[in-house]
Amino acid sequence: MTQTAGNPPKKVSPNAPTEQEVLSVHHYTDRLFKFRIERPPTFRFRSGEFVMIGLPREDGKPLLRAYSIASPAWDEELEFFSIKVPDGPLTSRLGDIKPGDKVLLGKKPTGTLVHDALVPGKRLYMFSTGTGVAPFASLMRDPETYQKFDEVILTQTCREVAELAYGEELAAGLKDDPLCDEYAHQFRLYNSATREDYPRQGRITDLIKSGKLFEDLGVPPLNPETDRVMICGSMAMLQDTKALCEEAGLVEGSNATPAQFVIEKAFAD
Ligand code: A2P
Repeated sequence: MTQTAGNPPKKVSPNAPTEQEVLSVHHYTDRLFKFRIERPPTFRFRSGEFVMIGLPREDGKPLLRAYSIASPAWDEELEFFSIKVPDGPLTSRLGDIKPGDKVLLGKKPTGTLVHDALVPGKRLYMFSTGTGVAPFASLMRDPETYQKFDEVILTQTCREVAELAYGEELAAGLKDDPLCDEYAHQFRLYNSATREDYPRQGRITDLIKSGKLFEDLGVPPLNPETDRVMICGSMAMLQDTKALCEEAGLVEGSNATPAQFVIEKAFAD
């Protein structure tokens, strides 16, 4: 048998990330931006999941980080909401991407902030801080969220008022959403700032503890019979908010064992 001369063909792992084109980029502040990329027809995910995203390193190997997918499962494109850290190996470079550039997209979306991990309820709370709003940007634009819950309440707390812009844009856009416009009346945004003047002030944990959140919304306090909760933020925020859910009698769920609340760290930091 003869052998072909030259190097053998390079093996490409079936799980290797694929290159996708950047379609649009929008900067909200000098630290926060969203971008949209092509979605391969074979790329399937559940609203609320995350995936690895990145850019090639100088040596050609991929530099990847977990990012929540901010667009809903039905969208033909993929959206991400990111922070830019000046010395962050990936985000400092990702912050400079332009339409037409390529980014790397992993092949295995996963996560716990999904409908499958919650048992049915009446009211869904999505508690977020900072870029932790991203998975909820996906879920709030998915009709399934409104078919499963009568009332959907998104909270986002940021240090500064300008950081609340993406959440506000999403909330304002819901009435014109192609699939969720008819459900816009079931959705409410409750945002707050902690280090600048804003009509609503304070950490979500303090607003829950004092009861101000429920008073302002005109709803009863957290109740395991009716309320379901998804939480996304820093590790400290997750721990403190989870403790309040448990105090109220809610039980943590997972994909394998759905229950009354679920948590996930906000990755893009
Ligand atoms: P604060 O300004 O009082 O620290 P960060 O950028 O540090 O992740 O914070 C984002 C937002 O989350 C800020 O408004 C911050 O409030 C708030 N935050 C930080 N830690 C917690 C926590 N343990 N529980 C609830 N909210 C928190």
